Amino acid sequence: MDKHIRNISFVISILVSILVMSVNGGTHRLSCNFPAIYNFGDSNSDTGGSSAAFWPANDPKGETFFHRPAGRGSDGRLIIDFMAEHFGLPLLSPYLDSLGTNFRHGANFAIGGSTIRRLNESMFLNGVPPFPTEIQVVQFRNFKERSTRLYKQAKRKSERRGLPRPDDFTKSLFTFDTGQNDLAAGFRTMTNDQFVKEIPDIINKLADGISNLYNEGARAFWIHNTGPIGCLAVTLRGIHDPLPGYLDRHGCVKFQNDMAIEFNKQLKKKVMELRKKLPLAAFTYIDMFAAKYKLITDAQKEGFLDKAEICCGYHENNNHVWCGNDAIINGTKIHAGSCKDPSNYISWDGVHYTEAANHWIADYIINGSFSDTKLPLSQACHRLPLQSQVELH
Ligand SMILES: *[C@@H]1O[C@H](CO)[C@@H](O)[C@H](O)[C@H]1NC(C)=O
Ligand SMILES: *[C@@H]1O[C@H](CO)[C@@H](O)[C@H](O)[C@H]1NC(C)=O
Ligand SMILES: *[C@@H]1O[C@H](CO)[C@@H](O)[C@H](O)[C@H]1NC(C)=O
Repeated sequence: MDKHIRNISFVISILVSILVMSVNGGTHRLSCNFPAIYNFGDSNSDTGGSSAAFWPANDPKGETFFHRPAGRGSDGRLIIDFMAEHFGLPLLSPYLDSLGTNFRHGANFAIGGSTIRRLNESMFLNGVPPFPTEIQVVQFRNFKERSTRLYKQAKRKSERRGLPRPDDFTKSLFTFDTGQNDLAAGFRTMTNDQFVKEIPDIINKLADGISNLYNEGARAFWIHNTGPIGCLAVTLRGIHDPLPGYLDRHGCVKFQNDMAIEFNKQLKKKVMELRKKLPLAAFTYIDMFAAKYKLITDAQKEGFLDKAEICCGYHENNNHVWCGNDAIINGTKIHAGSCKDPSNYISWDGVHYTEAANHWIADYIINGSFSDTKLPLSQACHRLPLQSQVELH
């Protein structure tokens, strides 16, 4: 290394150490000014991608907040929406939406039904081709390249409207909420023993996606682990007279939650590895499982009905009429409309959470209650020194 550069990097490393010391010893850190959020995942954070790509969302979705189906699997806002609001940013436009988008403050690459790993056709649910993490990252790269070119070509300010500033990419927050559909596909097509062996490969595919984003300049990562899939209302409603031990002590399907816990254990370990491997990045790992499980187990205390109550949808005797749909069952026409007050429910449609539940969860994860570093969302750009990351465990 050139001597001059070495001196500069020495000075920088001293400055960084001082900053780190003052951060550790200080009472507060500066808030990060994220100009944009780029999100990747499945229906838990899809703000309209699936609706744009496949079938437009139907009523009564969106009724609580948007007063129209807004492409979300909920009556209102999702956790990612509350995160954007927390920074005063507009709600994220889906990358695939062709109308009315604004990408100045980020884009959403999440698509309902998506997995981390590519599935082959025999594993699709209802024939829906999902957008695995790898494809979502390719779409981001395409987005970055094209928006940068358009931004630079623009001769007037008005031509840049709705485009991100090229310099903003590296200052943005990159968020992930995925894995639930990999588990669901595993439960559909494999034995537990077979699936456990697949988990490392799934986690590696997610890590590849993160590394590829890092190579594109992404630096601040906020990674949700996967939720308690064994507590989904639609599953619980179909269980009658379970064998002893089939349910855990809070009445959720034990083997499914155990698989989610194993997945999360390996994901957390991988995030720790990535912290070392990608030293310029800040990683925050969020225990979404614990946050959702806390809501589910404290439901009554927190003013919610039981986890198995579904606001919108008909799921009796193995007949499923999904939220907003009509069907004839046993000669009777069923319209699966919504409940009177969605804010009493945890589950919106049997699989996804209501706005009230999402709001509850978002409050906890935004203030750092479920972050491994205990950093709130507003400080997700700060890299803690490796040592203290280890100690915090
Ligand atoms: C699809 O994946 C399953 C599970 O991994 C495998 O058993 C099957 O052979 C695959 N089918 C094709 C056509 O690749
Ligand atoms: C149809 O109705 C009969 C009589 O009420 C009931 O026993 C049966 O379980 C119903 N079938 C379905 C599929 O709901
Ligand atoms: C985070 O927010 C929740 C819900 O408002 C609150 O109960 C909790 O005490 C807060 N935790 C911290 C660390 O601020």
